[in-house]
Amino acid sequence: MTTMAPDFDDAFRAKFADLLIWRRDVRHFETRPLPKGCIERLLGLACLAPSVGLSEPWRFVLVDDPDRRRAVRENFLAANAEAFAQYDGERAKIYAQLKLAGLDDAPVQLAVFAEPEPEQGAGLGRRTMPETVCYSAVAAIYTLWLAARAEGIGLGWVSILDPEPLNRSLGVPEHWRLIGYFCIGYPAQVRDTPELVQMHWEKRSDPASLIFRR
Ligand SMILES: Cc1cc2nc3c(=O)[nH]c(=O)nc-3n(C[C@H](O)[C@H](O)[C@H](O)COP(=O)(O)O)c2cc1C
Repeated sequence: MTTMAPDFDDAFRAKFADLLIWRRDVRHFETRPLPKGCIERLLGLACLAPSVGLSEPWRFVLVDDPDRRRAVRENFLAANAEAFAQYDGERAKIYAQLKLAGLDDAPVQLAVFAEPEPEQGAGLGRRTMPETVCYSAVAAIYTLWLAARAEGIGLGWVSILDPEPLNRSLGVPEHWRLIGYFCIGYPAQVRDTPELVQMHWEKRSDPASLIFRR
């Protein structure tokens, strides 16, 4: 245990705000690999995330095997075709132009699951809200996202997937809950604006419109 707490000064706070502003969901990657040990180190930082009852219910699966990657890609293509079919008119036109996964180029692919009934934590905080295991895994993912961006590494979240076959393709326990599939690597472009804004799919809301008082 460390006793000397660090001082987070104004310069750090300004940089931290920059990190939040410049974090992006990345879908365009360079193919060059990450340095040796980098992803393991970043996942170590992700494990500092908060978790319900300190249950650490996140389960990280690094997917390197080409056959498994192919199965994930096919899963994505099928789910994406189904999603596309839900839209028509201008929306369909824009959707067709969106790149919604970096599965072909990103050097690292990572599936993140939540263990729904972790022994660790002895059930604390989960009795009335069992979904908190999933929230904990999301907290770890966002920690990873920021830690990666701080090193110039991009992460893209892929949720356009059918979870059940994905668990089978990766050979993980059926009961693990898929939280997301992630493409990780050096971004081909650096932006301060979400790609969905640039592609005219959606705009950001005014934060004040999302805050309620009772
Ligand atoms: C739960 C979750 C699921 C997402 N799924 C996808 C996805 O399947 N494909 C994709 O391109 N982006 C996905 N995204 C990224 C969002 O589109 C992106 O975060 C949003 O457009 C804002 O852009 P930014 O992250 O660059 O700020 C997902 C993000 C979250 C939090």
